[in-house]
Amino acid sequence: KMDQFISSLMQKMTLEEKLGQLNLPGAGDITTGQASSSDIAGKIKEGKVGGLFNIKTVEKIRDVQKIAVEKSRLKIPLIFGMDVIHGYQTVFPIPLGLSCSWDMPLIERSARIAATEASADGINWTFSPMTDISRDARWGRASEGSGEDPYLGSQIAKAMVKGYQGDDLSKNNTILSCVKHFALYGAIEAGRDYNTVDMSRLRMYNEYFPPYKAAVEAGAGSVMTSFNEVEGVPASANKWLMTEVLRNQWGFNGMVVTDYTAINEMIDHGLGDLKAVSALALAAGVDMDMVGEGFLTTLKQSLQEGKITQQEIDMACRRILEAKYKLGLFQDPYRYCNVKRSKTEIFTPAFRKEARATAAQSFVLLKNDNNVLPVKKNGTIALVGPLADATENMTGTWSVAADFSKSVSLLKGLTNAAGKQAKVLYAKGSNLTADSVLEANSTMFGKSLRRDNRPADVIRREALEIARQSDVIVAALGESAEMSGESSSRTDIGIPQVQTELLAELLKTGKPVVLVLFTGRPLTLKWESENVPAILNVWFGGSEAGDAIADVLFGDVNPSGKLTMTFPIDVGQVPIFYNHKNTGRPLAEGKWFTKFRSNYLDVPNDPLYPFGFGLSYTKFDYSDVKLSSTSLKAGQEITASVTVTNTGSKEGKEVVQLYIRDMVGSITRPVKELKGFKKINLKAGESQEVTFKITEEELKFYNNDLKFVAEPGDFKVFIGTNSRDVKEADFKLQ
Ligand code: IFM
Repeated sequence: KMDQFISSLMQKMTLEEKLGQLNLPGAGDITTGQASSSDIAGKIKEGKVGGLFNIKTVEKIRDVQKIAVEKSRLKIPLIFGMDVIHGYQTVFPIPLGLSCSWDMPLIERSARIAATEASADGINWTFSPMTDISRDARWGRASEGSGEDPYLGSQIAKAMVKGYQGDDLSKNNTILSCVKHFALYGAIEAGRDYNTVDMSRLRMYNEYFPPYKAAVEAGAGSVMTSFNEVEGVPASANKWLMTEVLRNQWGFNGMVVTDYTAINEMIDHGLGDLKAVSALALAAGVDMDMVGEGFLTTLKQSLQEGKITQQEIDMACRRILEAKYKLGLFQDPYRYCNVKRSKTEIFTPAFRKEARATAAQSFVLLKNDNNVLPVKKNGTIALVGPLADATENMTGTWSVAADFSKSVSLLKGLTNAAGKQAKVLYAKGSNLTADSVLEANSTMFGKSLRRDNRPADVIRREALEIARQSDVIVAALGESAEMSGESSSRTDIGIPQVQTELLAELLKTGKPVVLVLFTGRPLTLKWESENVPAILNVWFGGSEAGDAIADVLFGDVNPSGKLTMTFPIDVGQVPIFYNHKNTGRPLAEGKWFTKFRSNYLDVPNDPLYPFGFGLSYTKFDYSDVKLSSTSLKAGQEITASVTVTNTGSKEGKEVVQLYIRDMVGSITRPVKELKGFKKINLKAGESQEVTFKITEEELKFYNNDLKFVAEPGDFKVFIGTNSRDVKEADFKLQ
């Protein structure tokens, strides 16, 4: 039915109208580039626009849709996209934080709520999930993904696609998802945004492709090209990537959109003029051109010159029309423009409650000496730091629909929760940074931190005064929201010095100090980890973050988040990740340095906090690993189990992690790879046996011929509370 409908529509379309469908201007409400689109209304009337993105509110969207379906010749509805990447107006933790929940139903629900709200406000397409593997904390966009692990990243990608798209895309509360940035964007050199990528196909297939593939297999309706090159050809012109891998190998049949002006940027990449690069992109398998209008303005001529074919144009146009058809836009172009829904289904108490609970699951307790945490709900608490009362910074990067004035700051959350039982005193203590250049550079979407222009020592003195009057100090420090995200790479990934100076002074008071760390990336926290008794990493927790942080600080919620990106000791170790290769000269465990081994003179190889790490207010003990058999036969399965016991005094959640090592292979294999995890809840004193199935599937990898195989031989299985602290057992694949 869809095919017939679209074929008959396309018969009526002129070449210009077909090219119009391939054009995706930005509406200008939010922009991330220098180009902008002009006379959009005029172009819509002429049938020169396929969709619009980053336009906000149902009223505006309805007006624009009206032009398309009433004033254009063929009345083809527009599709409306937006970067709804961690919630819409109810904002959930930044994706990196969300991933630390290791809770797939929770993650799926957050995407479901985002889709419900966005669709109630006119949006039917989100540029999410971002499934780029990130191993480099310098890259600001690490905040937008699910961290460094391909297995976990794949599970999260599937959950998000399912959350956005539901089972039926034509329902008015589900939206089309867009997997991005295809491909390898997270591997840019030196962590500098938009930089070059170069890697072997083995690494692509084994380490970077799995989450994109998982999202495609979960039915994601669209894919976005990345800015970077892949094997010397920018992704948007890379036919091998867009057609051979994506469509032929993975069976993707949705639409491919470029990133913002990615076609035009191929001129700077050095691939030719706009006409040449636009033709290359179409021929590679790209369907829609975001902002740059290269398709709109040059493809006709390229067709006349025989550089591209009519079939290629038709195919791209068809895929865009198919997406609109699946969304039900031909049936009702205003399906997502229901003013009543926009008033009743956005930022509801129920959604905010869910966001608050979700945020608490994303926090990672990095240190808690002498049980400084939870903080007792009595006495006096000194809350200090530039992020303590920073309403506009709670939601983090890409919270394009957030109303910052409605976000719950930590000051508000803590004061609410303390009620009459405890007294909360507040002083800012320091600006975000002494360096106004860094501060100015990281100001976007109005999320700058209000700067206090008084001398630093005056601002600090106020904080020290309240600190001295308190029983415990809560220091809200770290990055501002826009110090991570797009175009926010850093070379120094520590807490800005003016804040660590404040922290040092607070410690000198002798009062217990809790560092509440706001960040969009792993930071280097060596000094803090040695000197501060308690560190709770809260990322950017979303619109309800302040309440959620208070829930965890006071112990109403026991923290259970586990890191999905390794925290380095020093930025010089980056890229650092747990699933690295052994090398021919590995350093012996427990050693810092041995001459002529693979290591550094000045810093150990170990991370500060490994992948999978996160503490709790209770303690979990692991038994030895029990295998049902030490021999696995093809087509069969064995089980690996441990008994986990809550030996502390509080109920808590634990993420039990299973890793595998292939001891000998036809290619070198990582020292450990995550192959399973289970999040369990245990009451104080309770035990649970946790069992994982191991089949040949878990042992497969892409070999030198890019065949996905399991090779017989010896394997190690590890189960534990993080990627470092594990118990192990051996088995053989026959
Ligand atoms: O979706 C984003 C992408 O992640 C980065 N460039 C801009 C796009 C649209 O806003």
